[in-house]
Amino acid sequence: MERTLILFKPDCVQRRLVGRILARFEDKGLNVVAMKLMRITPELSKQHYAEHAAKGWYPTLEKFITGGPVVAAILEGLEAIRVVREMLGATNGLKAAPGTIRGDFSSSRQMNLVHASDGPEAAAREIALYFRSEEICGYEPTIATWLRASDES
Ligand code: CDP
Ligand code: MG
Repeated sequence: MERTLILFKPDCVQRRLVGRILARFEDKGLNVVAMKLMRITPELSKQHYAEHAAKGWYPTLEKFITGGPVVAAILEGLEAIRVVREMLGATNGLKAAPGTIRGDFSSSRQMNLVHASDGPEAAAREIALYFRSEEICGYEPTIATWLRASDES
């Protein structure tokens, strides 16, 4: 089982798309093991987007991501990090394939609705940035035996 950190970004909350997009992750069989509405501070933005903090476009990203509440969540599932990234599609909504979340809902390079960790190291780092261990509530869904065969671990 893998865990990945997702953010429903401020554009997603403002456009009232959190429920519809969360439903896609639930439909896929991913397990929500933590979730909260919160505001990202400039300091948290710089930590989260450390790899981009020196880029020319970073100030506009920080203004966007701190400009309204986000919903942070942890999704759990087999190969969840890759699976969720593929469900999002390419960064730029204008280039993301139809059928992906960004391809279906976003027409922007910046306002692309959802963030997801891009690898195991990023997932561990980002989960620790957004959640304390007592905020994470792992559980075995009762439907688990109907989501995959018992030898598919
Ligand atoms: O989110 P993803 O990993 O697909 O993209 P990224 O290249 O790591 O960039 C992080 C975020 O910065 C994107 O999701 C966009 O919201 C934003 N961005 C931007 O505002 N302007 C750019 N030229 C590129 C990305
Ligand atoms: Mg990225």
